[in-house]
Amino acid sequence: MKRDQKFYDMYALVVGVLAIIALAIYIGVTKLSDINQGVYTVDSAEYQAAVTDRIQPLGQVYLTGDSINAEAPQVMEAEPAEPVATVLSGPQVYNEACNICHGPGIGGAPQISDPSLWTTRIAQGNDTLYQHALEGYTGEFGYMPPKGARMDLSDDEVKGAVDYMVETASN
Ligand code: HEC
Repeated sequence: MKRDQKFYDMYALVVGVLAIIALAIYIGVTKLSDINQGVYTVDSAEYQAAVTDRIQPLGQVYLTGDSINAEAPQVMEAEPAEPVATVLSGPQVYNEACNICHGPGIGGAPQISDPSLWTTRIAQGNDTLYQHALEGYTGEFGYMPPKGARMDLSDDEVKGAVDYMVETASN
């Protein structure tokens, strides 16, 4: 009988303590919620909006034809690339495209190293030399292909090479 009494005392104590904890949690939670902090009332528009906002899904699916209600993506302008030297100088063009024939004198090409082969050619004037270099030319010694068969070269690059050849051959 005495042991039962002890058990009931203990039981009542535990239940009492649990009840107090439950009450404490309840009060804590209601205190923490915005409603009881006086910010909103439950049926206020702000409260409804705050709840709707809080329960928004993280992503949305747009189907073809849907208008997308999202911020325009931020496009960053890329830094313009450093310009690369694309125009070749006269000597560069000569070495790349003309020396093959005009160095050793292949196929009747007047050698750049022999000024005597150039005097009559230079006497024609630069415009003729440019035209023959750009458009190609068949003379009594052989065939000079247009732009030395390097059609990727610009007219100015080829003219630069002609200037370089004339300059070299006149010295
Ligand atoms: C496949 C060989 C070949 C290549 C490559 C070549 N030439 Fe010629 N070139 C010739 C020949 C051959 C002649 C001489 C034609 C003739 O007078 O019978 C000639 C003549 C010339 C003449 C003199 C034209 C004239 O009116 O007397 C010039 C200027 C000239 N070449 C410029 C160039 C330049 C510039 C290049 C490079 C872009 C070049 N050549 C590449 C073969 C070549």
